Amino acid sequence: MASSDEVFVGSIDQGTTSSRFLIFDKAGEPVAVHQEEFSQIYPNPGWHEHDPEEIVKSVENCIEGALKIFEKDGHSKDSIKAIGITDQRETTVVWDRTTGEALYNAIVWTDTRTAALARELKSRPGSDKLQDICGLPISTYPSVTKLLWLLRNQEKVRKAYEAGNLAFGTIDAWLIYKLNGGPDKNVFVSDPTNASRTMFMDIRTLKYSDEVLDFFSYEFDLRKVALPEIVRSSDPKAFGQIASGSLKGFPITGCLGDQSAALVGQKGFEPGSAKNTYGTGCFLLYNVGEKPVISTHGLLATVAYQFDEKPVYALEGSIAVAGSGVKFLMHNLGFSHASHKISELAETVPDNGGLVFVTAFSGLFAPYWIDDAHGTMFGITHHTERGHIARATLEAVCFQTKAILDAMEKDSGHKLAELKVDGGMSNSALCMQTQADLVSIPIIRPKMRETTALGAAIAAGFAVGVWKDFDELKEVNTKGQTVFEPKMKAKESKRMLKRWERAVDMCRGWLA
Ligand code: G3P
Repeated sequence: MASSDEVFVGSIDQGTTSSRFLIFDKAGEPVAVHQEEFSQIYPNPGWHEHDPEEIVKSVENCIEGALKIFEKDGHSKDSIKAIGITDQRETTVVWDRTTGEALYNAIVWTDTRTAALARELKSRPGSDKLQDICGLPISTYPSVTKLLWLLRNQEKVRKAYEAGNLAFGTIDAWLIYKLNGGPDKNVFVSDPTNASRTMFMDIRTLKYSDEVLDFFSYEFDLRKVALPEIVRSSDPKAFGQIASGSLKGFPITGCLGDQSAALVGQKGFEPGSAKNTYGTGCFLLYNVGEKPVISTHGLLATVAYQFDEKPVYALEGSIAVAGSGVKFLMHNLGFSHASHKISELAETVPDNGGLVFVTAFSGLFAPYWIDDAHGTMFGITHHTERGHIARATLEAVCFQTKAILDAMEKDSGHKLAELKVDGGMSNSALCMQTQADLVSIPIIRPKMRETTALGAAIAAGFAVGVWKDFDELKEVNTKGQTVFEPKMKAKESKRMLKRWERAVDMCRGWLA
């Protein structure tokens, strides 16, 4: 029987392909988990949508599912002190703020329907000034292009805009709004790690930038769109409380975009620490301390977290396709039914057999930013078999990570000593060894890899005193890590990387 002075924190992890609810104890160990997948909608090539209501439902189901396990194990829900939220970033939801009704499917961060619009925006005077303000270059990736597309192309959205009822938010804002009961309570907030991915936020002041809003308002006045109030990532009051279900009345006290949450869950609190999360995409965040670094080498400046008045910043290298490449092999090409089998398939061949797969299904993100790149395989011969394709799919993420680390070194003037990893693909020892070989530094994989959810729990727990400072987290998630040391000869890794860079060059402008 569990003791009555136990303390737990709940964590909603709303990712690109699934929602989860985890309950962590004070030692940072998950004691209950429930996960649900939801529909991935691909109405046209390059389009990717989610049903916003289905997302909310999936989160509610996960809360109920995990709670059942928790209580069956003898714990009382009253020992859950707070709830954190972490979410897929950039994904754009628009709703009517008088009814709380979503006006279109959520346009997912991977969606490339706005490639032409992004080109148009880039050609407008003043476009070169934006990255210095908000940390991001114009591309299909941030929320802004998705919102502009919705205003241009969806009558329902335009009508709400004209009536002054249009609300815009990333998934965190939508979930917080809906979990609080929608228009009744009207809790409409976002944290800086999410708001910094819209392009609207000034990365230094953490407020919406007039200059950026002016730039994007040439067709629609974006000041007529309701944007969520930006509040700290950890706050006892700002995120409200759950309005219904078994956790009715429980406070939401933390919110972090998933990549920031993983950095927090890996305890990347020191400037110079970094993590790489191999999820649907793959995102390397490097803590740069209390001042943002605006990249000149294809990286993004982003907010790592804001727990007190001083935000902490990160340089980010974003890769659009990681686990989604593995899923592509499973679902589109029928290679296997389980993702670990793809790694096993890759192990059936000694090397890539000369095959390079640029998995540019959503264009190519950092550090290249080629919006119109398409997935392309180079080097196919009669020798090529499924094992080579599996291997080349895993390697594509490792090559991009190497290109990102090189860019980071140029931007920051520092070379990383080691790289912490997590996310589904980090389960593959082959993939992690390849990564170590290509970046020539040790790769550190923790035993407990629910780091994204743990990060949101930490943000929530800080707000209510479950943990008081970083020192109290010292022992959290330290046991049983695996270290992958680089083994490959430098000559060989250089030869592989050169081939990759040639392949990237050749996949530009496919539809031109
Ligand atoms: O920026 C998109 C990112 O937040 C999505 O993360 O975990 O779904 O790859 P993930």
